[in-house]
Amino acid sequence: MNILLIGNGGREHAFAWKMKQSAKCGKLFVAPGNAGTSVIATNVPIAVDDFAQLGSFCVTQKIDLVLVGPEVPLVKGIRDYFETDERLKSILMIGPGKAGAQLEGSKDFSKQFMERHRVPTARAKTFFSNQSNEAEKYLESLPSPFVLKADGLAAGKGVVISTSLAEAKAAIREMLEEKKFGDASSKVLVEEFLDGIELSVFVLTDGKDYVILPEAKDYKRIGEGDTGPNTGGMGSVSPVPFADEAFMKRVEEKIIKPTINGLQKEGINYKGFIFIGLMNVKGEPYVIEYNARMGDPETQSVMVRIKSDFVELLTSCAKGELKNHQLEIAKNFALTVVMAAGGYPDQYEKGKIISGLEAVATAQVFHAGTKKVNDTIVSDGGRVLAITATGASLPEAQQRAYQAANAIHWPHVYFRKDIGKDVLNLIQTKMIC
Ligand code: AMP
Ligand code: GLY
Repeated sequence: MNILLIGNGGREHAFAWKMKQSAKCGKLFVAPGNAGTSVIATNVPIAVDDFAQLGSFCVTQKIDLVLVGPEVPLVKGIRDYFETDERLKSILMIGPGKAGAQLEGSKDFSKQFMERHRVPTARAKTFFSNQSNEAEKYLESLPSPFVLKADGLAAGKGVVISTSLAEAKAAIREMLEEKKFGDASSKVLVEEFLDGIELSVFVLTDGKDYVILPEAKDYKRIGEGDTGPNTGGMGSVSPVPFADEAFMKRVEEKIIKPTINGLQKEGINYKGFIFIGLMNVKGEPYVIEYNARMGDPETQSVMVRIKSDFVELLTSCAKGELKNHQLEIAKNFALTVVMAAGGYPDQYEKGKIISGLEAVATAQVFHAGTKKVNDTIVSDGGRVLAITATGASLPEAQQRAYQAANAIHWPHVYFRKDIGKDVLNLIQTKMIC
């Protein structure tokens, strides 16, 4: 079958890499793609939210399946666009419509959804742009730390966590009155702080049935030891030791089932991924957020562990035939190190020549912000490469990923040296206990 993959990050390179292994994969196009996807697929210079051009491309290239990588086209309604166009409505698509994508597109919607369907989550209260005085008073009634969340999409930057009441008050005024995140902060949630360890759980659903993909842990902060500002994600590991069978059973019963039943009850026909960002608070799972897509750089560590045919899985999902679909997962460990441009997540430079890629033998190099200029590959974004290695143990995967990362270079390259370290400490503590 002919496939169009939408997106241009490390997640999309990992998707493309996995789909290419399927005998069912015919022509594979990526819009717009990056230097990595150009080697294994055909890049198409169409923006992820240019639905008219994406639609025409699907018609001329006889596309059978569309996999939507990032959230923006989903929240803007790519599925609704395709479903209401006679030429496009029979094309299979992975990704929810506008209604389902609200799980990610509006934190106020998703919080109310969780409350309606009794999905465990942090308590929260929503304030509108004319309510900063009420919001300040409410903050005064809460214990520190304070969690503020812009309602809409804010490229992963819409959450402020502060231990200082004065700072939290200033931040909520900035968000509500000065529209710090534009329309995304015309509503702001003030949320209870959850103290625990985070985990990313991924579900693929056809609206009725679902499969659970391997779980992963993301490293969101720029600095080692989880310090400094938040980023899109600086690394990932899979599996995660505390996500044992008993914990994942609780996640399935308390979160996954009520979420999918809730979507059904509300008449939301959801065909796609649900990425559940959750906090393990003393062994109990609480949802921090839903996303209507896979995570980046979690996808990279997840794809290398799936043994089943991925195109077959996506096709079953898009056709509503996930029932009885078994997913075969390797019993190995995967670890991803993100190599970023110096300065990221603030100002950074692009166009740096990347060297050493050909010497990598121990890992899979997934491209994120890269492009080809003549015959050289240059940096073209904040997160530039995702280096993913597998191993029979976590230390082995870690050693192989870092061996590869250390062989790659460009001026001012930065990557965290401690991906997986906390998880290894957890495993060791568990072994001692
Ligand atoms: P989000 O954009 O909702 O994923 O939030 C970004 C990050 O903020 C999360 O990955 C968590 O590390 C943190 N966070 C969000 N909500 C909470 C909360 N209620 N309690 C503690 N940390 C949180
Ligand atoms: N790595 C977190 C995300 O993709 O949102």
